[in-house]
Amino acid sequence: MRVLVLGSGGREHALAWKLKQSPLLTGLVIAPGNPGTEALGETVGVDQNDPAAVVALVKAKGIELVVVGPEAPLVAGVADAVRRAGVPVFGPDAAAARVEGSKAFAKEIMLAAGVPTAHARVFGSVEEAARAAADGGPIVVKADGLAAGKGVVVADSGAEAAVAVRALGKLPAGQTVLLEERLEGPELSVMALCDGERAVLLPASQDHKRLLDGDRGPNTGGMGAYAPARLLDEAQLEQVRQQVMVPTLRELARRGAPFRGALYAGLMLTPSGPKVLEFNARLGDPETQVLMMQTADDLLPLLFAAATGRLDERPLRLASGYAVGIVLASPGYPDAPRTGLPISGLAEGTDDEVPVFHSGTRRDGTGAIVTAGGRVLTVCARGATVVAARELALSRALRIDFEGRQLRHDIAHGAPPG
Ligand code: AMP
Ligand code: GLY
Repeated sequence: MRVLVLGSGGREHALAWKLKQSPLLTGLVIAPGNPGTEALGETVGVDQNDPAAVVALVKAKGIELVVVGPEAPLVAGVADAVRRAGVPVFGPDAAAARVEGSKAFAKEIMLAAGVPTAHARVFGSVEEAARAAADGGPIVVKADGLAAGKGVVVADSGAEAAVAVRALGKLPAGQTVLLEERLEGPELSVMALCDGERAVLLPASQDHKRLLDGDRGPNTGGMGAYAPARLLDEAQLEQVRQQVMVPTLRELARRGAPFRGALYAGLMLTPSGPKVLEFNARLGDPETQVLMMQTADDLLPLLFAAATGRLDERPLRLASGYAVGIVLASPGYPDAPRTGLPISGLAEGTDDEVPVFHSGTRRDGTGAIVTAGGRVLTVCARGATVVAARELALSRALRIDFEGRQLRHDIAHGAPPG
């Protein structure tokens, strides 16, 4: 089967790396890809958010399955266009991707489907929301639309919440605002491969959003992840599948927007059980990098089955132990990453045991690989324990250098012992 992976980050590099191991694969195209994907398949430039350009590429390359990585092409209707052209896609249509694109829509779906989540009120007026926020206590303020990780403020007081509402009101995404009950508890990410009706869970994982060790510093897109995160046991995970994933799929299908792709539930484990904080309509980054290392099954038939509505609900086969992924970020990240810095220590090659997935890299005029974004690389390793996995990933990560490189040394610090 000839597969196109759409996207250019570490998640897509890891998906391509895993798909490359499939005996069913006859051709792999990554678009636009990055220098790390060049060794895995044909890496071709394309505007990934342009449905017509992606359809043209699919036709030109004889692609039989498209795997969409990021949310932007999904929200832009790329999956709709490829499906209309008759080619299976792992990734939802725009109508179903709204579970990520609109937090108000996600809330509406969860309420209708009986999915446990924080209570929220939705406001179409920034002023009205600000007044309501000022009257209350600690609350979470969320912009309705996509805001590149800047759309959520956990406020300690009504006054702080009102300030947050007005600040978000300056963004296009913040014209509709949610005021949400503030929940407490550890956070866990659970993702499922979905075929519109059925859901197969990937191992639970934990991302590390803060820039610095000890969960200090500003929020980022994610500085590292590990899996499996054993904060829920098998029976509790099955409950999440049955009480979160399946009802959400049913409600979306009932509305004529079947979800075929990866449904990502950000959960908070509250004293009254897991509750959904957010949905994403795609796999997480950097969670995918470690999930690809922990999945023992061939990914290709699973993604094809999800894309064509024929998923078998049996649990995935997993590797033993744990996988840890450590992100190497640019100086200045997350506010103002500096780019164009030469990277040394990559040349040890692509080691399948300790893979280095490229997130933000490019080739300069001489062909050398330089930094090209906030998050530059994700170094992953497996081990019998999380500590062993982290030490292996860390020792490889520390042999890669660029000016001002930032990384965390404590990924998976929240993992339960064992
Ligand atoms: P979200 O993008 O909705 O996942 O929110 C980003 C982060 O804000 C989450 O990872 C949580 O740490 C925090 N958060 C979101 N919603 C809530 C809530 N209802 N209660 C407490 N913290 C929250
Ligand atoms: N790492 C969080 C996300 O991909 O949304």
